[in-house]
Amino acid sequence: MKNKKDLLQKLRLECEQCKNCELCFTRNNVVFADGNPQSASIILIGEAPGENEDLQGIPFIGRAGKLLNEFLSQAEISREDDLYIINTVKCRPPKNRVPLDKEKDSCRDFLLSQVEIINPKVILLCGATALKSFIKTKIPISKIRGDIFEIEIKDKKYSAIPIFHPSYLLRNHSVEPNSPRDLMLKDLKKAKEMIN
Ligand code: URA
Repeated sequence: MKNKKDLLQKLRLECEQCKNCELCFTRNNVVFADGNPQSASIILIGEAPGENEDLQGIPFIGRAGKLLNEFLSQAEISREDDLYIINTVKCRPPKNRVPLDKEKDSCRDFLLSQVEIINPKVILLCGATALKSFIKTKIPISKIRGDIFEIEIKDKKYSAIPIFHPSYLLRNHSVEPNSPRDLMLKDLKKAKEMIN
């Protein structure tokens, strides 16, 4: 059995050559993942790369990523050791529009294989795009964030927690009890407890 690093390296090379949808014509980089596959026990799934991510090939390194880092450190989750960060769609949609269904479908095998290889204890569904990719619901994320769902990926069950997307928190500054920022911290602390 090959180790996680080799399996992910093979998948990364396939992903970097992918021409399954039109985003391949406008991307600068395929944004495959960030984190340590050997030690990570939480996967965070975002939406799609933004401008900075597309330029540098690393997920969540722009403004939203910096805010995410602050929440992670408050929840004592190490981005380097505990977390493997991926996106639903690996290439930047023009002008950061929401990815189309056909773009999500084109990327789905890469996404599922990443989860299968990492085999995390917890999956954080960060924002509505990631949520809707795994949980068929019309309930808004604000109503179900922090709940633990069981989802099945490639015949294996995982615990998944919807959480707010940091871009939303960039527009919501309050840290009052039960504000989105307060709830984000609570949800991340819950994930941290689940891996301890
Ligand atoms: N937003 C996302 O969903 N993913 C990124 O990588 C950056 C911003």
